[in-house]
Amino acid sequence: MSPHRRLAERVIIATHNGGKLREMRELMAPYGIDCVSAGELGLPEPEETGVTFMENALIKARAAAMAANLPALADDSGLCVAALDGAPGIYSARWAGEAKDFAAAMALVEEKVKALGCVAPEQRASWFISALAIVWPDGHAEEFEGRIDGVLVDPPRGTAGFGYDPCFLPEGHSRTFGEMTSEEKHGLPADGSRALSHRARAFQMLAKACLA
Ligand code: IMP
Repeated sequence: MSPHRRLAERVIIATHNGGKLREMRELMAPYGIDCVSAGELGLPEPEETGVTFMENALIKARAAAMAANLPALADDSGLCVAALDGAPGIYSARWAGEAKDFAAAMALVEEKVKALGCVAPEQRASWFISALAIVWPDGHAEEFEGRIDGVLVDPPRGTAGFGYDPCFLPEGHSRTFGEMTSEEKHGLPADGSRALSHRARAFQMLAKACLA
């Protein structure tokens, strides 16, 4: 028997980020689980005081599960740039400021990377991480992490997706996440081989463990 706990019927998607919510709903869609968001339930956003992606995902999932007495799924994710020692990392949302201005956040990343003289693609390595946590009201937790490597492009390209998608070119591809449809960004092949995006990769592990 699987050591993992199965997710059934209903789950709270513990996010107030519209882009993430859309992607998480798309990923959950084939499994027939009713997804309601923390925003729709009017749940408050807990303070993200963790120092890792997973700690923050657990904080968000735990807060929603306790408040609504239902299992809750949270994603904590971000863009990490090798030349910036992994920044913005867990602070990816904060670099966009109160106004959630991701054009400004991408410009800030670019300014810092250029200031270090990083112009060649091999100096512009970056990756996205998605930590997914499901927490049940009794405190049980399941944790999954996905990563996609690529390079930063300048200027950013494309208007699809959200956040830092336009400045991220995934390894082996010629279009940025901002130029891909969400199906392409998830890249979930029908044969079950490896998904593309960090979130889809983490979700593939989650689905195998908790939704199969
Ligand atoms: P969180 O709500 O603290 O996890 O914020 C994560 C931030 O990382 C988001 O607001 C985005 O800026 C960025 N991010 C995470 N995943 C993605 C993605 O798939 N595409 C683009 N940006 C992302």
